[in-house]
Amino acid sequence: MANNATSDDALPDQRFDFEHGGDDAVSSELAVHHHGPAPAADPVDEAQGEHQFIALRGGGTFVAIEATKGARPIILYAGPDMPGTAPSELATLAVRQHAPGTAAVPLRGSMMNEVGTGISGPSGLIAHRGGQDWAIDLRLVMIEQRGEHEVTLCCEDTNTAVAVCHTLSLDPETGVLTSSTEIENRADSELQLDWAAALCLPLDQRLERIFSFTGRWSGEFAIEEIAPFQGSIVRENKAGRTSHDVYPGAFAGTPATSEDSGLAAGFHLAWSGNSRLRVDRHSDGRALIQIGEMSFPGEISLGRDESYRTPDLIAAWSRDGFNDVSQRLHDHLCNEVLDKRSFAKPRPVHYNTWEAVYFDHDEATLITLAEHAAAVGAERYVLDDGWFGGRRHEDAGLGDWWVSDAVYPDGLHAIVKRVKELGMEFGLWFEPEMVNPDSDLFRAHPDWVLGADGVDAVPFRGQFTLDLTRREVFDYLFDKITKLVTEYGIAYIKWDMNRDTNYPGSGGRGAMHAQTQAVYKLMESLRAAHPDLEIESCSSGGGRADFGILRYSDRIWTSDNNDARTRQHIMRGGSQFLPLRVLGNHVGPKKCHITGRQFAMHFRVASAIFGHMGMELDLRDESEADLETLKAGIALHKKHRELIHGGHFLRLKSTATTNMIGCVARDQSEGLFSYAKLESELNTLPDRMMFGGLDPARHYRVQMVWPLANPSLSTPSIIEAAKLLEGGTTFSGAALMGYGIQPPLTFPDTCLIYHLEATD
Ligand code: GLA
Repeated sequence: MANNATSDDALPDQRFDFEHGGDDAVSSELAVHHHGPAPAADPVDEAQGEHQFIALRGGGTFVAIEATKGARPIILYAGPDMPGTAPSELATLAVRQHAPGTAAVPLRGSMMNEVGTGISGPSGLIAHRGGQDWAIDLRLVMIEQRGEHEVTLCCEDTNTAVAVCHTLSLDPETGVLTSSTEIENRADSELQLDWAAALCLPLDQRLERIFSFTGRWSGEFAIEEIAPFQGSIVRENKAGRTSHDVYPGAFAGTPATSEDSGLAAGFHLAWSGNSRLRVDRHSDGRALIQIGEMSFPGEISLGRDESYRTPDLIAAWSRDGFNDVSQRLHDHLCNEVLDKRSFAKPRPVHYNTWEAVYFDHDEATLITLAEHAAAVGAERYVLDDGWFGGRRHEDAGLGDWWVSDAVYPDGLHAIVKRVKELGMEFGLWFEPEMVNPDSDLFRAHPDWVLGADGVDAVPFRGQFTLDLTRREVFDYLFDKITKLVTEYGIAYIKWDMNRDTNYPGSGGRGAMHAQTQAVYKLMESLRAAHPDLEIESCSSGGGRADFGILRYSDRIWTSDNNDARTRQHIMRGGSQFLPLRVLGNHVGPKKCHITGRQFAMHFRVASAIFGHMGMELDLRDESEADLETLKAGIALHKKHRELIHGGHFLRLKSTATTNMIGCVARDQSEGLFSYAKLESELNTLPDRMMFGGLDPARHYRVQMVWPLANPSLSTPSIIEAAKLLEGGTTFSGAALMGYGIQPPLTFPDTCLIYHLEATD
């Protein structure tokens, strides 16, 4: 579509998949699809009463479903493939019996474990009509299998007039399961949907250890191991964004699972709004995981023939440890979720202005910074917050998306021109969903914000969340952004979102679901209007970093914390779900603005090489020597970025004082490994580092490519013995992985990068 497309050109007719009322208020209909009656159900066929089964197989995953028409469908198994196994075998192997003190027949549940199945554990579907029709009991009426990888199963409960369709699809490359459930109301009275999991997915009983992901602003992706438990763990997020503290995802392993061996699984909800994840170990010994969107009371209410579709559950399994689960998720994201524009060119090295100037914008300074940035190797220049409206501090201007006359009397033209002359792309920061009370937009439209009547708004960074479910708000944002993108040839938007949305009421009802969809639609519309435009998803750092937003964006701003030592941990946590190609990672100032700690340039640079690399510092404050180091580090990243962004990522088993990671080419012909020493070790000398992912039968020449000078505290060390800085030495892959390499003794906050190249 042409760049000058109007918003109407850019938008599909059915803008939100739902209809708007004529006035400003938004009805509850915004939460749902209107798509007319669901397909007529097949008549229950002759085979009723006999057991029927479905097998999905692909990418090493096997999903076995008992799918007998007229009965409740149930997932018998989801996990690593057991080749040659038919689902019917599992059904027999799993036959259970009556246990004293329980129901007279063993209760099996269903794909939603809805209330009418009678099972005692938590239901995956909770709905009712004003307190009636709550004991839903769904029976299979239609199966549509599309090849070996995909199936839709539709069920109906004529008693409560509720119908659901489950769609399950296996990625044939990675074995990643994507699944969602659509719930439809088939009666005249409203159906209130209180909870709908994407699916009730059985969890292998051996997966006793659960890992959840928590954190805070500037401390994202902290991994929390949950000890084996009986009963339930629940993670609920109602921040109105993916959140820093309740990531919608979990990993699971056995007591023996490690990064590179053992049964492992990963689960994620591809959704950027509210969420709930629960793992339940029932008293009958079964374990299930549910993950879905959490709604506000009454938020999802369906009229006749209206339906609600859950966000996608994403799940991956492996018998080869957590790294393999991550690799499957990474590859699935790259192959199936990210837009092709993300792959049109190598990931450009960024220069971001935020920590260099904050709100203190000045054209000459920003041009000087662009020149310094280009000189050390930047390929994309991102002008951060502070360029628009009255945005001279964080309490004003959001919503006024025009270049500030006061700061830039001639617009951004001089900066953009210079940036492009220097061979860089120009990117600009927006926070589209937000408005400051001190803004022209709010003064003109104080009613354009989400809220709950009679409830004080929660103060949060001096801003409110706009109601994007209203067409005029949506259009306003589309028009303002597209105009700037066109005028300045903007290649990149850093799309920020800096507050929780506590009371997302619209027209009196909860509207977080519709708001999240509207944000996606706005991004999608802008990208349709500007086919090369890339978007970064930022939310106070990594507060919106999920597979849902990544359908419409190309990069995550992983964290505001550029402290190189902390960033090692944040990147390791983020890598569980997300590949390095989307995880933004910047070289920060010598004294970190978040932690106050100081790090040498060689360590700051090394810590940013593994990721989508960038810089975020005042380059005028750096010494010539440090600028040279920075330049060399950026050159090293560029030299190996195909490997970093396209190879297999590995978390190596690390110690309390180290973080070790690596990227190995898919043909195992080379690898780049990082050994970051974060503290002094307990012993006099460090433990050997074990490489991973190599071909044990091949030989590899090992060189140390970072730092540039010998970092060892005493000589001679392995650096001399193995000529690591002078052409390297060749070792077998088996030795490098099975015996490892002795790291030299260095100061903490030193990061050694090894390049390994196969010689045979
Ligand atoms: C958030 C982002 C930062 C920066 C500021 C600007 O905190 O995470 O990177 O863009 O907003 O206000």
